[in-house]
Amino acid sequence: MVTTNILYLILFSVVIIYFVSSYFFKNYLKSNAEESSLIVHVVVNEDESTKSKEDTDKSCTFHTCFDVYRCGTSDNRLIKVYIYKDYKYYAKDGSQIKLFTSKQFKRLIHALENSPYYTNNASEACLLVPQIDLLNQEYVDSNLIASVLEHLPFWNKGANHLLFNMLPGKYPDFFTSLEIRRGMALVAGGGFSTWSYRKTYDISIPVFNFHTARATDDELHNDLLMESSERRRWLLTSSQVHLHRDYMEVLNGVQHGGRFLLLDACSGVNYSKRCDYNDGRVEYVYPDVLKYSDFCLVVRSNRLGQMELLDCLMHGSIPVVVADSYVLPFSEVLEWKRALITLDEADLPSILNHLKAINRHKVIQMRVQGMFYYKKYLKSMEEIALTTFHILNDRVFPQWARTYEMWNEIQVPIKNLFTLPLTVPKTSGFTAVILTYDRVGSLFEVIQLLAKVDSLLKIVVVWNNQVKSPPPASAWPKVNKLLKVIRTKRNILSNRFYPYPDIETEAVLSLDDDINMLTADEIQFAYEVWCEYPDRIVGFASRLHNWDARTKMWKYESEWTSSISMVLTGAAFYHKYYHQVYTHNLPAGMKEWVDAQMNCEDIAFNFMVAVITKKPVIKVTPRQKFKCPQCQNTSNLSNELDAHMFKRSECINKFTKMYNLTEPPLITIEYRSDPVLYKSNQVPNEFLKFKDVGAL
Ligand SMILES: *[C@@H]1O[C@H](CO)[C@@H](O)[C@H](O)[C@H]1NC(C)=O
Ligand SMILES: *[C@@H]1O[C@H](CO)[C@@H](O)[C@H](O)[C@H]1NC(C)=O
Ligand SMILES: *[C@@H]1O[C@H](CO)[C@@H](O)[C@H](O)[C@H]1NC(C)=O
Ligand SMILES: *[C@@H]1O[C@H](CO)[C@@H](O)[C@H](O)[C@H]1NC(C)=O
Ligand SMILES: *[C@@H]1O[C@H](CO)[C@@H](O)[C@H](O)[C@H]1NC(C)=O
Repeated sequence: MVTTNILYLILFSVVIIYFVSSYFFKNYLKSNAEESSLIVHVVVNEDESTKSKEDTDKSCTFHTCFDVYRCGTSDNRLIKVYIYKDYKYYAKDGSQIKLFTSKQFKRLIHALENSPYYTNNASEACLLVPQIDLLNQEYVDSNLIASVLEHLPFWNKGANHLLFNMLPGKYPDFFTSLEIRRGMALVAGGGFSTWSYRKTYDISIPVFNFHTARATDDELHNDLLMESSERRRWLLTSSQVHLHRDYMEVLNGVQHGGRFLLLDACSGVNYSKRCDYNDGRVEYVYPDVLKYSDFCLVVRSNRLGQMELLDCLMHGSIPVVVADSYVLPFSEVLEWKRALITLDEADLPSILNHLKAINRHKVIQMRVQGMFYYKKYLKSMEEIALTTFHILNDRVFPQWARTYEMWNEIQVPIKNLFTLPLTVPKTSGFTAVILTYDRVGSLFEVIQLLAKVDSLLKIVVVWNNQVKSPPPASAWPKVNKLLKVIRTKRNILSNRFYPYPDIETEAVLSLDDDINMLTADEIQFAYEVWCEYPDRIVGFASRLHNWDARTKMWKYESEWTSSISMVLTGAAFYHKYYHQVYTHNLPAGMKEWVDAQMNCEDIAFNFMVAVITKKPVIKVTPRQKFKCPQCQNTSNLSNELDAHMFKRSECINKFTKMYNLTEPPLITIEYRSDPVLYKSNQVPNEFLKFKDVGAL
């Protein structure tokens, strides 16, 4: 009896539990279903397709269609981006609408969700991104998607919505922009022409190549670290498959001395194989073959944007883009002429002549720049998504926008740039940067001296005096070189090493305004030495650091000894890139220390270059004395000198600590660089290239 009771009790509880749990479970399911599904009233009829283009606002600009007031204040400097839920869509009749979602689109969404721009609160969002994959127009049913978009809860005619698309248009028209009814929505698209691209509104993105994408950064890194300083086996490679027959014929007719590789698909279906166009049996592996080519051809086919563009950049092969009216990726911010060549379709027959005219130095420069763009902005769906939002962020908050230099100047550690055995052609010339406060007399003498130096291109005077204005233009010496005066906001030594856009040459000659004892020959000679060692500081006045066993400190030494480890930047050549590093990448507190002490900027600079290059400085010419001999003796020099030497020694010890080193990074050497025939008794003076090189 008891057991029967217990059995009933158990049965009863089970039934209760079943009802209770199924009730909750049902409700749970229901609320979840409501959250993540949308009933879409799909209208598909013949008229719709003709309507589809009309309902897209083609005249939109950032100012007419974008609502910046949704973007809040600029306090946190970041726009907020909302991503719609991954809804299930149902048609009115209850059937589910199946939408295709690619792995790449998932990665893009994932990157956005993990970016600083992301918000899960749609009402505070500046931009809204539907979680609907439109990357490849081939997979998009235009009318269906248009209906789906219109049913999104915050759609509002597409205002402040962003749609990503890489392959626009379909056979046979191949429209160059995402071909769906999309109201005011912005498009980040991969094949815009100048006709379909709404300037300041749409964003041009690259076409990502899923086949060749590198799985990891390490893999990519290895690809980018290939030797970069030498010319490669091929001048130009054309490896795109299914090029239009007309292009193929033109290319096959191009005259070449064996340095043009024309490839096409092989007979089998294997994306990684390419065959010689004329001798189909010779096989190459794609994209690896691009590693052996200086330039690589990217020609329009049905669509303007080609995924081979990224393959070329990834392999350090400079793209030659032949696609009239194509809007290059992120061209709103990237200065593509630094990294690729664009050629009119009509100029294709003479393509090799164009390329042969580009010198080795330029080729290397473009290659390095292209790799920089690739790594920083293009290498993955994640980078592409983030770059798109950086650009939008800059539009919304122009006061915080990245400058053109920040987008385009190479910010990879200079080590990578300079481990290459680079030399710079002498014809590029140099820019003299003179820091001055109020010594106008000697400043003018220095300017007149500089004007006599052949390779000088421009003089930039950094006027560091906020109290006194620079002399009027009429008072300056008349010289036949460019002269630019920059007034600074604060009298700080760091202004000497600021990356002024006016410095256009790679070579910088840094000069004090009282260095008027050098000769034009000496400066020209130093410049030519620098061209062979563009990673070094090449200068006239040398100094040394020593270990003082008594004080157990490093000591600054200006005595004339047989060793040197620094050159003073009061008269020295170096690469302009170091201005970037000095201004943005010194160890914490170092620049501030220099500015507060009003001293040691040159020691800091020597430290910085030594840390980067692990190489010594180069002293040129025998000259030892630099201050003008006729200048008056300011009596208490020796006392001042002691204080000065003490301060300089303190800087060496301080900077060593700031770099977390146990000893200064400076390298001590015992040699200098002089002109070949310097003090050669056999040769009369008039035969010397550099006659006027001072003795001491
Ligand atoms: C979403 O943002 C709006 C507008 O800023 C704000 O009023 C609201 O409280 C936010 N909601 C949540 C859940 O944070
Ligand atoms: C395609 O060709 C590459 C290079 O020859 C080869 O490594 C790869 O295994 C081939 N793939 C297939 C599916 O045959
Ligand atoms: C400069 O002054 C110091 C100290 O008064 C003196 O020892 C030195 O000889 C002077 N030098 C010249 C070049 O007059
Ligand atoms: C030099 O400096 C010392 C100590 O600072 C001072 O006693 C002396 O009067 C100064 N001499 C001159 C000529 O200014
Ligand atoms: C020195 O070490 C500190 C503490 O580990 C670190 O924060 C700093 O970035 C380092 N500085 C340099 C230049 O490596």
